[in-house]
Amino acid sequence: MQIAAEGAVIEYAMAGGGHLAALGPVTFIIEDGTFVSLLGPSGCGKSTLIRALAGLEKPTRGSFRIDDRIVTSPSTEVGVMFQSANLIPWRTVSENVMLPLELAGAPKSQRNNASKRILEPLGLSEYETLYPGQLSGGMAQRVALGRVLIQSPDVLLLDEPFGALDAMNREKISMDLLRIWSQQRQTLLMVTHDVQEAVLLSDRVLVMSHRPGRIIDDVSVDLPRPRYSEMIYEPAFTEVARHLRRAIDRA
Ligand SMILES: Nc1ncnc2c1ncn2[C@@H]1O[C@H](COP(=O)(O)OP(=O)(O)O)[C@@H](O)[C@H]1O
Ligand SMILES: [Mg+2]
Repeated sequence: MQIAAEGAVIEYAMAGGGHLAALGPVTFIIEDGTFVSLLGPSGCGKSTLIRALAGLEKPTRGSFRIDDRIVTSPSTEVGVMFQSANLIPWRTVSENVMLPLELAGAPKSQRNNASKRILEPLGLSEYETLYPGQLSGGMAQRVALGRVLIQSPDVLLLDEPFGALDAMNREKISMDLLRIWSQQRQTLLMVTHDVQEAVLLSDRVLVMSHRPGRIIDDVSVDLPRPRYSEMIYEPAFTEVARHLRRAIDRA
């Protein structure tokens, strides 16, 4: 599915009257099946944009579109994931992952099969009976990703999904995400503050200005796929990374 924004602006009403311009205007099209990262300074409206594309925030002006549908509410076609896993503490790993199917009224056998199928590529098969309190941060984020993937969304919106993890964990989980995406080819938009991560994973990187965030750079990453971690040492990689670094410094 295609994701688009057309002259979209988001303003928040302020307690004492007036409003805060959080985002935009932004206009872009993200083509079906592409992996796009979004970089930008803190507070520039990245999370606002993700929430709006997920139907959790309404534009003050302009519109957001998923294929031909103007976004007005959340949809099961669109999976969203945030920096904190927000797992339910009294449910096991597999019970957390299955939750969306349970809410959708899927029968138990179907839920169990789906859970096994999702947990395996995330490296969670051995942990399905553990509770969130027994998981590391990286594992908790894997479970959160599983809970999103179980609905087979065509669009994935990831808001700094690995931002709280240490570098090692972060690299492992992002390469797992890349492998899963390569097989399923969702349209994926990921907010990150890590330039290397953005370049290594993406087809294209968008850079936002300070608040209210607008798109100030749009860079194609023409590195071959499959990607692998050592690519960060290649000249073509460093060239894109340097370009982005400068764009962010200008933002
Ligand atoms: N619900 C809200 N009400 C009022 N202001 C908000 C709300 N959510 C975010 N903001 C403000 O909008 C701006 C953009 O926030 P956000 O989208 O979270 O930025 P980012 O994710 O890029 O750090 C910030 O100034 C933030 O304080
Ligand atoms: Mg944010």
